[in-house]
Amino acid sequence: MTDFVFQNPTKIIFGEEAELKIVADIKDGGYKKTMIIYGMGRVKQNGLYDRVVRRIIKNELGFTDFGGVRPNPVLSFVHDGIEWARKNEVDSILAIGGGSVIDAAKAIAAGFYYDADVWDFFDKKTSPTKALPVFTILTLAATGSEMNNVSVITNEEEQKKYAFGSNLIFPVASALNPSITMSVDNRQSAFAAVDAISHILEVYLSKQNNLRLNDRLSEALLRTIVKDTEKILENPQDYDARASFMWSATLALNGILSCGAEGYYFANHLLEHSISAMYDVAHGEGLAVVLPAWLSWFREREPKRVDRFTKKLFKKTGDEGVVAFEWWLRSLGLATRLGEIGIKESQISYIAENVATAALRSKIYKEYDKKTVEGILKRALRS
Ligand code: NZQ
Ligand code: ZN
Repeated sequence: MTDFVFQNPTKIIFGEEAELKIVADIKDGGYKKTMIIYGMGRVKQNGLYDRVVRRIIKNELGFTDFGGVRPNPVLSFVHDGIEWARKNEVDSILAIGGGSVIDAAKAIAAGFYYDADVWDFFDKKTSPTKALPVFTILTLAATGSEMNNVSVITNEEEQKKYAFGSNLIFPVASALNPSITMSVDNRQSAFAAVDAISHILEVYLSKQNNLRLNDRLSEALLRTIVKDTEKILENPQDYDARASFMWSATLALNGILSCGAEGYYFANHLLEHSISAMYDVAHGEGLAVVLPAWLSWFREREPKRVDRFTKKLFKKTGDEGVVAFEWWLRSLGLATRLGEIGIKESQISYIAENVATAALRSKIYKEYDKKTVEGILKRALRS
């Protein structure tokens, strides 16, 4: 185990009426005017927004409204949000939505006090020194953004989808009410499952050191997510499955699983972020295509680790294990081949070029150069 510092300051409010209870946290923080950020209008149609706003008014808090975050949030939206936040002199942000809304909120929070372009943080030119406090009401369990210090934004002009991390953008508090996620459809729930699973696998499979506790925690989470997902797809109103999945997805990327780990790269995310930067593909949708291809490539390098995963989860090893995992993804209704998400062989070189630029930025260009990436993606062409 390598040395590490673990500090996760986010308060989690879990369960019934969590979305109302969090308003007291904003009030107790002494904030006077919050900026409510949300997605494409669903929270207004289903009454969630109104319920939260009524509680905000009851608590005599000021607020302003900024909706329209689209899935895979873009830099121009963040720029507009920063301008809106400054114009309205807000002192806090309340994000109501999934990973996209929360990531946009974090980027706006970090850009608020920065005089130049917020993209500088994503481009690793500099780091923020101050940020607005972010509170979140999670409506879609998947990314872990509600309890981590990461924001992922797409620079749509440059077709770059990059993440930046700063302890200043850990949410102060996040409200997790599993009932709110019951309206997530099966397609999106399957995307969520593959995302949460990939967050665990990125560290569990590719870390270079032996960590018994992390491995066991990872396996417990993987098993739980697999079972919960099957239950959710069968009955989207299953409260226990929604609750267990929600907390598992949070734990999958809140930093606990990478404590003491070294030498892992989040390679599937590197590849997928290029795909969703360039094409209209949801994050989980892209991961379902990248993961089986990467797993088959990675198994040729680290057979023991991959076999341990497929054996524990799907009772198979070797190529059969990788196939079993892919078939499980397909049983959720997910596409696992590039052609199925509208990407042709002729586009692979273009994607690999984009990945290579991102790999250079992340200093993993030796492990994931253009040729290697092309080789991995070509595996996702096979029928
Ligand atoms: O736009 P709204 O109206 O909110 O609708 C969303 C959206 O259409 C909908 N949805 C959300 N809650 C719902 C719901 N539909 C029905 N009922 C509900 N209760 O679901 C759609 C997808 O939402 P989105 O927020 O885009 O999904 P997700 O949470 O998967 O977030 C994906 C984004 O997060 C990034 C991804 O790259 C992608 O941009 N990630 C962020 C990470 C982080 N910050 O740590 C890590 C991840 O690896 C990931 O990269
Ligand atoms: Zn992810």
